[in-house]
Amino acid sequence: MIALTLGELAGIVDGELAAGTDPAATVTGPAFIDSRRVVPGGLFAAFDGANADGHEFAAEAVAAGAAAMLGSRDVGVPGVIAPDVEAALGKLAHEVLRRLPDLTVIALTGSSGKTSAKDLLGQTLATHAPTVFTEGSLNNDLGLPLTVLRAEEGTRFLVLEMGSRGVGHIKQLCELAPPKVGLVLNIGTAHMGEFGSRELTAIAKGELIEALPKDGLAVLNADDPIVAKMAQRTDAPVLSFGESPSARVRGTGISVDDEGRAGFTLSADGVEAPVTLRFVGEHHVSNALAAAAVCTGMGMTVPAIAAGLAEAEPLSGGRMSVTHRSDGVIVIDDAYNANPESMRAGLKALATLARAHPEGRSWAVLGLMAELGESSNEAHDAIGRLAVRLRVDRVLAVGPEARMIHAGASHEGSGGQESATVADPDEAIAVLRAQLRPGDLVLVKASNSVGLRRVARALLEDAR
Ligand SMILES: Nc1ncnc2c1ncn2[C@@H]1O[C@H](COP(=O)(O)OP(=O)(O)OP(=O)(O)O)[C@@H](O)[C@H]1O
Ligand SMILES: [Mg+2]
Repeated sequence: MIALTLGELAGIVDGELAAGTDPAATVTGPAFIDSRRVVPGGLFAAFDGANADGHEFAAEAVAAGAAAMLGSRDVGVPGVIAPDVEAALGKLAHEVLRRLPDLTVIALTGSSGKTSAKDLLGQTLATHAPTVFTEGSLNNDLGLPLTVLRAEEGTRFLVLEMGSRGVGHIKQLCELAPPKVGLVLNIGTAHMGEFGSRELTAIAKGELIEALPKDGLAVLNADDPIVAKMAQRTDAPVLSFGESPSARVRGTGISVDDEGRAGFTLSADGVEAPVTLRFVGEHHVSNALAAAAVCTGMGMTVPAIAAGLAEAEPLSGGRMSVTHRSDGVIVIDDAYNANPESMRAGLKALATLARAHPEGRSWAVLGLMAELGESSNEAHDAIGRLAVRLRVDRVLAVGPEARMIHAGASHEGSGGQESATVADPDEAIAVLRAQLRPGDLVLVKASNSVGLRRVARALLEDAR
């Protein structure tokens, strides 16, 4: 973070100095909320949460090197007191950005792939100039300020993942951190229960494009008609990406290797370069093209972008991370979240890997896709049917909410394919431990709340 005195900080957040605080003392590091992960010189933001009260750890955090606390009550620790700590962090982030005029703020949103695209983009841009990007999926009212506050004077690009809880939310995030560049990946059926319809989802995500200044840049998916239409919602120039011939930054000749990693030829303005990603699944081509388009807009050359994308690692776990166990079982951990689009993508990647590893059987250990509203039953049934069509050998539907997956998978059941249900993750672990054979491939995927991460972890612990 840029250096600020506690006096300045109190003014920015409309807060008060805690008793005995030296107004001239400075904060030099970023803000953080976990007192076990103290950043020297940083600002410990104390939240009175449901499970714990951060204020109780403030003294410890300061003793361990934090410069001060930002909290909602005075606990005898130097710092600033403001009634709403999250709002205070937002105000602070907004002001810090105002004081960093050479920083280009790039925000991205979409239904699926935000974190993956953000990791691809952040790492590729970082090969060009100092870049700060969202850690994991910290994409809301709290995550955004925390990311912004990691920017320093030398930072040139700030890549912000923006999630949306409904109409008006992204507009608000864009007021907090006004983006110069806006990227929309896709509009799918994720979080449909929350939004109500695809149209409302488009309205909500498109707020990012409406927030762009005239001299900004809208980066839009040419392959997704709903996203492409967002061009009408801005005066900023538009840069399109995709497989469509009309896309300015384009991917052609897409292939998938035996490990499920996608390769393609990247082209922009007549220049081409081959890319092989370290991300598993063909669906990441779209995320990589999105990242490439932003990089093009930021002045990188096609060969430099291709090199950056090829080096980029999937930094945020639980998204198609493939582990080869020593006994030959291959685990694909995609337990972090699930919606119909990402389920289809995950199953297709499983099928691709299965073709390359014909010696074993393919397993899809699947659970609820949350927040789908009325379309939920049909969507789960469709996933079960797709698993059958893709010739997944064993479907294991975990939890009562996933029974429609089992229904879909048993419905069309054919030659040797089987589907079963289990009550919970523990039972899934037991079935898998009893039945997995060397060479088997296991995809583990559901919405986070189902807890399939536990299944993935257990399978990985079994790797001897
Ligand atoms: N373009 C895409 N189309 C379909 N599925 C995708 C795409 N990109 C990523 N996925 C899959 O979607 C899931 C979530 O990916 P990721 O975490 O990158 O998305 P996200 O938009 O950040 O999700 P969240 O809303 O939880 O923040 C993973 O299973 C991933 O493999
Ligand atoms: Mg995310």
